[in-house]
Amino acid sequence: SIQAKIGPSILNADLANLAAESQKLLDNGADYLHLDVMDGNFVPNLTFGHPMVKCLRNNIKDAFFETHMMVCKPEQWIPQMADAGVNLYTFHIEPVEDVAKVSRMVQEAGMKVGLALKPGTKVEEVQKYMDVADLVLIMTVEPGFGGQSFMADMMPKVEWLRNNYPNLDIEVDGGVGPKTIECCAKSGANWIVSGTAVVGASDQRQVMTDMRGVVQR
Ligand code: DX5
Ligand code: ZN
Repeated sequence: SIQAKIGPSILNADLANLAAESQKLLDNGADYLHLDVMDGNFVPNLTFGHPMVKCLRNNIKDAFFETHMMVCKPEQWIPQMADAGVNLYTFHIEPVEDVAKVSRMVQEAGMKVGLALKPGTKVEEVQKYMDVADLVLIMTVEPGFGGQSFMADMMPKVEWLRNNYPNLDIEVDGGVGPKTIECCAKSGANWIVSGTAVVGASDQRQVMTDMRGVVQR
């Protein structure tokens, strides 16, 4: 059966204190860390790459790391991210010519495969890759920035996936917090990314526990 997992996005955390901020989230019950990698090209913003992920891994030995690759050439960073200790390599299918091939490269490097879809991408686009995908990420904002409003009109994509793939791990990302979690859970999402709603909360543990409870019930 599917499990509810809460993965804080550290995009809007204090990046100069990333190890401490990440450890605090984990101590407060985060199930995994969602690391937003942006190249200033696939999205109009820049964050960090594998050197920083590797440093974070050196500080945090046992947490599950997902990298959300918002880059034009996800095939370019597979060995580096595997070496940096990434567990789940989630990349956007939009700029990739041969998604099946890149997915196999990710698996051969020892990471799980996540396929990410921008709001404008039809969910049926992932259908032909479902034999290689460990997880599908339905973006609920245009990728690029934290703190945007949740797009409820993405929920039919989540519902379609849940109906067709009852055991699939389905992730939502963008504007997800206590106010929007009900909608995500009802549609069938079980991996929940939450940035500003968790990182900025006065009681991170409470927010994550509440959201997990809504998804798991
Ligand atoms: C947006 C990123 C998200 C974002 C989530 O491009 O992929 O992970 O940081 O932040 P919130 O929850 O604030 O929308
Ligand atoms: Zn993300």
